[in-house]
Amino acid sequence: MTESALPFAVESRLRGLPKGLREHIERSREVGKDLAALHGTDPDRVDLGIAAHDLARSLDRETLLEQALSSGLTPDPIERHEPVLLHGPLAAAWLKADGLSDNLVLDAVRWHSTGKVGMGPVAKVVFLADKLDPEKVRRYPALEAVSDLAQEDLDRAIIKYLDHEIGYLVGKGRTVHPASIDLRNELLMV
Ligand SMILES: [Fe+2]
Repeated sequence: MTESALPFAVESRLRGLPKGLREHIERSREVGKDLAALHGTDPDRVDLGIAAHDLARSLDRETLLEQALSSGLTPDPIERHEPVLLHGPLAAAWLKADGLSDNLVLDAVRWHSTGKVGMGPVAKVVFLADKLDPEKVRRYPALEAVSDLAQEDLDRAIIKYLDHEIGYLVGKGRTVHPASIDLRNELLMV
């Protein structure tokens, strides 16, 4: 189990989540701890970002959209079509309302699903730690290559993940959020 202390508001929101989601978050926190140590990323910010990234993940699509609107967010057309993409932005809005003001953590939570151009190291580690939950890697063996790359180079790992994810979405005839395309393009041009 992860030992670092979390803000009370985050602890209390975590306690209200379904068990399976809490377990995913705990496993991702362990991955995040390792990646942060490997890459010299701020471990406390990474841990808080991962602990909070899925606080809104259990809401259904209608509730996500309603809550996003009532929290002052302005969902774009892709987010309206795929409201699950709003769970990061909504969690970040909740954290802000709870008094959390660390933009590095808020951005990591906000962009953990699609990614975003200009993501910093904390957001990159949070993004990857979510995807590299060992249970997800077990279910989707394509993630093993992402996991291997993440030990060495966060950017190459994110490119590999996005290659796979964007290809999957296109193959299924689904929308791709432009933030993911923009991030992949940015990282390819570094
Ligand atoms: Fe997650």
